[in-house]
Amino acid sequence: MANCLAEGGYDIRHRAIIPDERSEIEEVLIRLADEVEINLIVTVGGTGFSLRDVTPEATIAVCDRMVPGIAEAMRGASLKITPRAMLSRGQAGIRKTSLIVNLPGGPKAAVENLLAVLPVLGHGIDILLGSATECARE
Ligand code: MTE
Repeated sequence: MANCLAEGGYDIRHRAIIPDERSEIEEVLIRLADEVEINLIVTVGGTGFSLRDVTPEATIAVCDRMVPGIAEAMRGASLKITPRAMLSRGQAGIRKTSLIVNLPGGPKAAVENLLAVLPVLGHGIDILLGSATECARE
């Protein structure tokens, strides 16, 4: 998954393993967005149905604006691979100048979800940072 980000041109500036505790996840997301100013924050795991799966809730709680299209695109692409894709409750949203994207936890699942949206995330982040103001036709 990190390889995909690196190949997509992203510098990995921070990695953390966080327990399935909503308050701890929220704290880390807030710190990475507000203090470290990471433009793309990718979470892996905790999107399923287990009672411990609270990453989507933490993400919703810290975001100013949700980006449903990213989560829809990930699930849409993933459903072509496995019907179990519908079991991921992953979200995507914006906090200040950070885009937060939840991926499911399985390594294969994480990569499949990320690859579905990675080519478009940069343009969204450019708009968020004010370095792209309009959408050119592809
Ligand atoms: N998406 C893709 N592309 N490929 C997968 O194998 N697995 C699903 C789903 N999304 C999967 C996927 C399964 S089985 C589950 S339970 C959910 O992601 C949630 O995973 P998580 O609890 O590890 O976050």
